[in-house]
Amino acid sequence: MQIFKIAVLISGNGSNLQAIIDNFRDEVGIEISSVISNKADAYGLTRANREGIETHIVNHEDYSSREDFEKELIRILKKESPDLIVLAGFMRILSNLFISEYYGKLINIHPSLLPNYKGMDTHRRVLENNEEFHGVTVHYVDNSLDGGPICAQSKIKIDTKDQKKLEEQIHELEYKLYPDVIKNIASGKMRLYRGEVVKQ
Ligand code: GRF
Repeated sequence: MQIFKIAVLISGNGSNLQAIIDNFRDEVGIEISSVISNKADAYGLTRANREGIETHIVNHEDYSSREDFEKELIRILKKESPDLIVLAGFMRILSNLFISEYYGKLINIHPSLLPNYKGMDTHRRVLENNEEFHGVTVHYVDNSLDGGPICAQSKIKIDTKDQKKLEEQIHELEYKLYPDVIKNIASGKMRLYRGEVVKQ
């Protein structure tokens, strides 16, 4: 049986990583083959280690250029040949060097209803603008910042002014949406074809 291998790139807490681990723990045919963090103290590494998942630390500060940092990421990933690379709170901007290597196999989750609220600090900005809705987006990564082809979104009607509470609500959406999209890609129901997301 062919195993669909996922590599997850993180920088911090890794609660999305945890949701992915929990969703696929008993799923035959889908495996998290490795977790890579650019931060040695990322709590996500602890989450991965206690599941027996292989972990790597590639500290961007140890490299004189973004290119060298990304070459090291690629070197590690090439050894494992993952079918999908999942960015889950990975806080480094990736250049074309990395993106062109994995275009079509590289997805990200962003805490807003893209194309609205690209970039950082989305919950605060959404509240400040008195938006009616907020949500999350999973997208394929291309060279545009938070602008790649959209796989799926989920949204809520905002019922709070409390940023922390809103963030928690958004996290709950993420924990469901990201594994759902990964499942669809792994089963071949979703893929990137000529720059567009095709669903079957
Ligand atoms: C998530 O909100 C995700 O949308 C964003 O970074 C956050 C990561 O959180 N890209 P965690 O590390 O998964 O807890």
